[in-house]
Amino acid sequence: MHYFIRRMTSTEYRELRAIRLEALRDSPTAFSSSYEDTAALPDDVWQQQAAVEASSEESATFIAADEAGNWVGIAGVGPLPDVPDHVHVHSVYVSPEHRGPAGPAADLMMAGIRHAQVSTDVRWLTLGVHERNGRGLAFYRRLGFEPTGKVVPYGLNPSEKLLILGYPDFRGRSRSSAQP
Ligand SMILES: CC(C)(COP(=O)(O)OP(=O)(O)OC[C@H]1O[C@@H](n2cnc3c(N)ncnc32)[C@H](O)[C@@H]1OP(=O)(O)O)[C@@H](O)C(=O)NCCC(=O)NCCS
Repeated sequence: MHYFIRRMTSTEYRELRAIRLEALRDSPTAFSSSYEDTAALPDDVWQQQAAVEASSEESATFIAADEAGNWVGIAGVGPLPDVPDHVHVHSVYVSPEHRGPAGPAADLMMAGIRHAQVSTDVRWLTLGVHERNGRGLAFYRRLGFEPTGKVVPYGLNPSEKLLILGYPDFRGRSRSSAQP
């Protein structure tokens, strides 16, 4: 299967909504918003989000499409409002039947990382992964992400933890400096 990786366009808000809801149904603890809250968002919120993700310098969502043009994966990058000098990878999802080493997950991630490298001047690129998301953790480690030592409460259940991983090669630094 060949996959097409590209940035989403501003008119694709319905596709964005559909894959976000699929992701929340498939993997509810992998993300920090609930299916119910997300499903209740009106169209204009999705339209605004699509416009930002399609054209902003700081925030961008990349999608993987199959040969028929159907969206089978997404990955977003964007700033963290309360954490200066960082860009965060978020909303990473690939439909179950397209997972595995021949799938688009790594290319999606690299599209997001490259965008952040050329469109922002922040020093750090991080992401949060749920402590029990063994597959996500293995995947990110394979791409080179490393634990920063930071652990924060998981938004939907603060008794659970999100591990913060950093991408040491984001600005071409040595592998020992994932995070300040
Ligand atoms: C995270 C995700 C995008 C990764 O894409 P993928 O196509 O599954 O990734 P790959 O199959 O290439 O790599 C998965 C790794 O996890 C390993 N793995 C598979 N199942 C596992 C499990 N149950 N526990 C631990 N590791 C597991 C694989 O062996 C592989 O590791 P390796 O490359 O060292 O062999 C995808 O699994 C997904 O969409 N998951 C649901 C949503 C999610 O968790 N998103 C991340 C939010 S932080």
